[in-house]
Amino acid sequence: QLKMLKKNAEEGLKENPPYIKNVSAMLRSAFAIAVEKAFPKTGVAKLVQVGPSSHPRFGDYQCNAAMAINKALQNSSLNPRSIADRIVANFPIDPFGLVDKFEVAGPGFINIYMGKEFVVEEIRSYMINGVKPRPVKPLRVMVDFSSPNVAKEMHVGHLRSTIIGEVISRLIEYQGHHLLRINHIGDWGTQFGMLIAYLKEKYTDGFPDRMEVHELQESYKESKKRFDSDEDFKKRAYQAVVKLQNKEKEHYDAWKWICNTSRLEFEKIYKRLGVTILERGESFYQDYMVKIVKFLESGNFLEEDEGRKVMFPKAKGLIPLTIVKSDGGFTYDTSDMAAIKQRVEDENLDWIVYVTDGGQATHFQVIFDCAERAGILDRTKVRVQHVCFGVVLGEDKKKFKTRSGDTVRLRELLDEGVKRARDKLLEKGRDKEMTEEELLQAQESLAYGCIKYSDLAHNRNHEYLFSFDKMLDDKGNTAVYLLYAYTRIKSIARKADVSEEQLRDYAKSSAFEISHEKELKLSKTLLKFPEVLDRILEDLYIHPLCELMYDICTSFTEFYDSCYCIEVDKPTGLKTVNMNRLVLCEATAVLLKQCFDLLGIRPVSKM
Ligand code: ARG
Repeated sequence: QLKMLKKNAEEGLKENPPYIKNVSAMLRSAFAIAVEKAFPKTGVAKLVQVGPSSHPRFGDYQCNAAMAINKALQNSSLNPRSIADRIVANFPIDPFGLVDKFEVAGPGFINIYMGKEFVVEEIRSYMINGVKPRPVKPLRVMVDFSSPNVAKEMHVGHLRSTIIGEVISRLIEYQGHHLLRINHIGDWGTQFGMLIAYLKEKYTDGFPDRMEVHELQESYKESKKRFDSDEDFKKRAYQAVVKLQNKEKEHYDAWKWICNTSRLEFEKIYKRLGVTILERGESFYQDYMVKIVKFLESGNFLEEDEGRKVMFPKAKGLIPLTIVKSDGGFTYDTSDMAAIKQRVEDENLDWIVYVTDGGQATHFQVIFDCAERAGILDRTKVRVQHVCFGVVLGEDKKKFKTRSGDTVRLRELLDEGVKRARDKLLEKGRDKEMTEEELLQAQESLAYGCIKYSDLAHNRNHEYLFSFDKMLDDKGNTAVYLLYAYTRIKSIARKADVSEEQLRDYAKSSAFEISHEKELKLSKTLLKFPEVLDRILEDLYIHPLCELMYDICTSFTEFYDSCYCIEVDKPTGLKTVNMNRLVLCEATAVLLKQCFDLLGIRPVSKM
């Protein structure tokens, strides 16, 4: 961004490019230039950091590099304050009027006050161009998420992976990258031989047309019992595995039937949550697994260990991967090694993201390490990231289970959410102002919105307490609060009888200005979006986006409480509309809508 800024400055351009600008990053680059000019060839420019101020009396942003630079330079004729002065004096040309003024404070803090013109131009751009991200070189990215297991109930862990993975996918697509969303379902392995052998015994006249996933899971448990206690059954199960691996019709069809039964259930959940994902499960890698074993063997990477073939990572103290089991079968490790090779070499990916619970952190650490060791992965070229998350707890602070200790069925959980959301709307008497159609829409938006948001608003690494009561609370940082705020903002323009078109035209005109302190505060909060976005794309922690949405809504409330947008003259009933403020309402709505879209939450106009 700075290069462009410099180029524009050199050419005397003051054109505002049609995308959103990361104020923190622009300031950081400008300060790095200033420091390089003030202290050439000392290498201290890399010490520059700029962040939002902790309090408005310290400006909008702060650069606290002077202290660190002073330490690094060890020049007795300087002190942090004089260093700060020199940095400020060398600040490059600022064609956008990004900075209104600097203030050197305390031991050498540089407080930065943003220029109002810059803020006006940005809001104008939000209105004219929408919230368009800065163009980047498109990368080839894969997000491996959701990934439930066939013949098992999809559990709350998979729900978290689905919710978080979907948002990460949306963010990456929004940034303009090429994205593959992959559902790495557990659909392969010796357990399927077991299950097929069992089902063939149970349904001698062919499998039923329909079966619920929980019934399949029961069969799965039964088959495991048989496998462990009955030698004959065990033999048959092994034979079934071999037949399946050779794709012999009867067994292959049985396996397809099992996968299909599960898939129908998964798809229902995805549809309800608005998730799109391409199924490419472990079975996809069967041939690749055969190949990876040969590849690792020929590279001498495998060691014998009690009949197993294992691979040790370079890092000490980590457990090795089991590449081949003592019975010759493959494992979860084998499939992930095969998958990473296929992804790096065939898919040509620049960036791979895996979304699973924190329990698998070591697994991925070892996979990445072994892939590097085997020369499959070069982490300076391909970015691999394991995005993990904490366990889901119930209201009793214990692992989320039903009263009887079973896994909670996702479908039932979603149903309950919808019911609770409906109750909430009825409790507020909203049914009196809505058609049944609108009510149905609102209850789903609310239910899924709440379930997603309460997950996303927390630091994903932490344990997460699942509570419908908390998520349906309309106070605090909840989806309910935000969705209501959004509908309220939208209704302001409606009440004023001003169309979006008119607002946009007004924003384009020179009449548009920002004057009231609360207008400015709201605007500056909106302008934080690009820096929050850029940061998320680095570390893939999503909660800062939720915090920003909450800040936007609270700033909006402050603004709305002290700034009239529409004034009605009581005796005549005449309306005076403040267009500047309506533009701000609309800009807020536009940005909030973008945030909701990124989070996969569907706001409705009536709620
Ligand atoms: N099926 C796995 C589970 O339920 C998650 C798979 C994640 N992806 C991967 N490439 N290992 O835990």
